[in-house]
Amino acid sequence: MKTIIEPFKIKAVEPIRFTTKEERTTLLKKAGYNPFSIHADDVLIDLLTDSGTSAMSSEQWAGIMLGDESYAGSKSFYKFDSAVKKITGLKNVIPTHQGRASEKILFTVLGGKGKYFCSNTHFDTTRANVEYSGAEAVDFMTEVGKHPEMKADFKGNMDTEALESFIKKTGAENIPLVLMTVTNNSGGGQPVSMQNIKDARKICDKYGIPFFLDACRFAENAYFIKRREKGYENKSPLEIAQEMFSYVDGCTMSAKKDAFANIGGFLAMNDDNIAMLCRNLLIVTEGFTTYGGLAGRDLEAIAQGLVEILDEHYLEYRIRCVEYLGEKLVNNNVPILEPPGGHAIYLDAIRFAPHIPQYQFPGQSIVCELYLEGGIRACEIGSVMFGKDLPDGTHISPAMELVRMAIPRRVYTQSHFDYMIEVIIDVYNQRKNLRGMKITEEAPMLRHFTAKFDYVD
Ligand code: F0G
Repeated sequence: MKTIIEPFKIKAVEPIRFTTKEERTTLLKKAGYNPFSIHADDVLIDLLTDSGTSAMSSEQWAGIMLGDESYAGSKSFYKFDSAVKKITGLKNVIPTHQGRASEKILFTVLGGKGKYFCSNTHFDTTRANVEYSGAEAVDFMTEVGKHPEMKADFKGNMDTEALESFIKKTGAENIPLVLMTVTNNSGGGQPVSMQNIKDARKICDKYGIPFFLDACRFAENAYFIKRREKGYENKSPLEIAQEMFSYVDGCTMSAKKDAFANIGGFLAMNDDNIAMLCRNLLIVTEGFTTYGGLAGRDLEAIAQGLVEILDEHYLEYRIRCVEYLGEKLVNNNVPILEPPGGHAIYLDAIRFAPHIPQYQFPGQSIVCELYLEGGIRACEIGSVMFGKDLPDGTHISPAMELVRMAIPRRVYTQSHFDYMIEVIIDVYNQRKNLRGMKITEEAPMLRHFTAKFDYVD
């Protein structure tokens, strides 16, 4: 088989700025050892997120010029509306400025004290929006999904047996929604099988609970189903995506991921009543129902992005990029979450730096070293993001301690990947020098964005 190549030519380029290790040492210290506080201009390869960082196509940029900026009923909205409906088949499509705006609206309408939302894994903003409404977010990961070193085809799946016992115990009337995240971002960008979606649907039907997708990376998930699930080999990614959505009552979506847009999202559902309440709230917080916090040109970019994201050549290249990075790291004994997921490689910080206890944030220490060594910006997904400190000083650690290197869509070439591999291997070879860290300042919610750190003595 020949090399899988980028299925595009590059028409516009954006220079990246080189810094010296001495400069990076000063910059990192100034940022309180939190890469979220580093200026992007001081980053060489930015793997902080795959969200909003995609390179748009010439067709998308052409769409930007076609944007109809009418306040109500713009042509661009109807293009967006039909692009979403073609894939999801959902009746009410509500544009929002990004995924978390959809979450805020949905959980404000359905949430509140005494309610429980169930998911394979809630993403951090999703969990925060559930909790902000007064409700609780409960995750049902499968056992295999909790072990970075174990390989399985669909590690993003929900433990549907655990879901059903929870429903029986808690009472269906207290569970307004089950939300399946595809792919499972916090669980390692791992896919969810069609069978698991069907199983969850069945349970939701049995207890009369609405079932939604957090669809941010629906196209990557569809491609994994094509590659790994029996019976889907000859189906197109669009057909698979349509089937995934056919099992749900609604979805939240960040168009900053699998719609190649720099901003945007939507909330979609079949229920007219809930949609009416969501649209009311949309008008208060986002904007009128046909633009929802976006410009007409953004709606154009999303509509076109939703077509391009399901191109099979693109998806093959996309998944191969991540797999290539993972493969080279594994060949050099670097511990990663296996198998590689759809949008990112996750370093397994517990095996990478076993001499640093979880309460001293081994992932954050690796993140800092990747920046110092090679100007690469990654993101800790472990005790900084999900750990909790009890009033008695006990530290509750999450199941996994990961460092996420998220790959922006259509942005980096193979030599960028080879450079990333060199830097990560260098950091791994010098792993004994990694030091534990402590938090010196933190916010009460989503502390990872703004916390400041220092090394422990
Ligand atoms: N759900 C999932 C699974 C996500 O990964 C994200 C965002 C959101 C919801 C929220 O969407 O950013 O448009 O408000 N994830 C980004 C990330 C930020 O880096 O993984 P948003």
